[in-house]
Amino acid sequence: MKQRSSFGSRFGAVAVVGGSVVGLGNIWRFPYIAGENGGGAFILVYIAISALICIPIMLTEFSLGRHTRSNALRAFRRLSPRGYWNGAGYLGIATSTIILSFYAVIAGWALKFLQVALVNGFHRQSSEEIRTVFQQYIDHGWGPMFWTFAFIAFIAFIVVRGVEKGIEKFGKIVMPFMILLLIGLVINSLTLDGAKEGISFLLRPDFSKINSHVILQALGQAFFSLSLGMGTMITYGSYIPKNENMFRLAGTVAVTDTCVAILAGLAIFPAVFSYGISPTSGPELVFITLPNVFGNMTGGYLLGIAFFFLLFTASISSSVSLLEVATLYISEEMHLRRRTATLIAVGTVAGLSALCLWSQAPDSSLRVAGQNIFDLFNNATSLYMLPLGGLLSVLFAGWVLRGRTLQEEVTSRGRYGNALFPYYRVIVRFVAPVVIVLLFLSQIGVI
Ligand code: PHE
Ligand code: NA
Repeated sequence: MKQRSSFGSRFGAVAVVGGSVVGLGNIWRFPYIAGENGGGAFILVYIAISALICIPIMLTEFSLGRHTRSNALRAFRRLSPRGYWNGAGYLGIATSTIILSFYAVIAGWALKFLQVALVNGFHRQSSEEIRTVFQQYIDHGWGPMFWTFAFIAFIAFIVVRGVEKGIEKFGKIVMPFMILLLIGLVINSLTLDGAKEGISFLLRPDFSKINSHVILQALGQAFFSLSLGMGTMITYGSYIPKNENMFRLAGTVAVTDTCVAILAGLAIFPAVFSYGISPTSGPELVFITLPNVFGNMTGGYLLGIAFFFLLFTASISSSVSLLEVATLYISEEMHLRRRTATLIAVGTVAGLSALCLWSQAPDSSLRVAGQNIFDLFNNATSLYMLPLGGLLSVLFAGWVLRGRTLQEEVTSRGRYGNALFPYYRVIVRFVAPVVIVLLFLSQIGVI
């Protein structure tokens, strides 16, 4: 077997995995999904689901990758040579490609907004004015197409250069800045008129709002935000050194990710209530609220630039990890050079992005089940494809893999890990599969 590169250091591992995990999912997706699903109640469910189901799944994916030291598909194939599980690998490759195609559209919005911030375009704009500018921009397909493709080309360039040179450097620099900036924004938001309302919307749980759809939304968001259910963490697991404590790694990463998401929510919802924006305004929520904040605060000009620049940068490392799944598969399985493999993967992504963009035009007939392609990709991946991928990986680890093998990998032969392993095993074999299947069944109306 070829020598695989592995992360340079422990901080390197946290930074790279963290780089994949912290991204648009926290800042763009989490706030609007929380807003649409009841705020505080959603957050509570989100935290519970992350701790109970998603951290164990992250551990499982790390283990599958580290054990086999290979790409998502080969990981399944090596452990189950008859090929019954190949589908799980293919599903991950398909899901990551689809996610990247709409992720790049959002990253393109971030780039556009960076440009608007640079020319001070948010200054004293009302939320209606910002919404109009945004809508007009999206309706004319060429601008968004330009920024989306520019972003994809940029990601391709990084992936061609290989793992540690390209990705690690970025992760280390960007994350701390993003967190600092968010904290600054939260402090500012707390001084707004609507701060109280915003905070209570986000933090006061209204239990009557919890139903199985909200739980599935929380599960899907947690999968998306933690980069689970599609092979990224299997692929990244293959770079984790043998002696790394994976319980600690998964815990650190998940807690960081959740904190960033909640910080984003705390920065955004006070503004939602202060500037009269609907908490359920969907995917454009962040792009309407924060420009409002920037346009009305002292120093908002520079902070706006910093924010959209960081948003763009944070989406780079996540996108790289998404592209890495298909690229690694193509180069390792089809024995193609990395450059060729990247080009094939990126070409597919660009084609799917174009579909998303065309379907966002107001007169577009590109609609499936009443949604445009962008919404379809965004919803279907989180609500179905990722949880299904996660379900397959826990079923595989819990029921197909030898218990001993799993234990050695998950615990890194550490004492601490061994104490937690029995709980982990019960979750992987029973709790996680049952919860996911029940949520699926209730979503399709069977129960
Ligand atoms: N977790 C990333 C985010 O929150 C998105 C992502 C999903 C990245 C799946 C890789 C795989 O933005
Ligand atoms: Na995330």
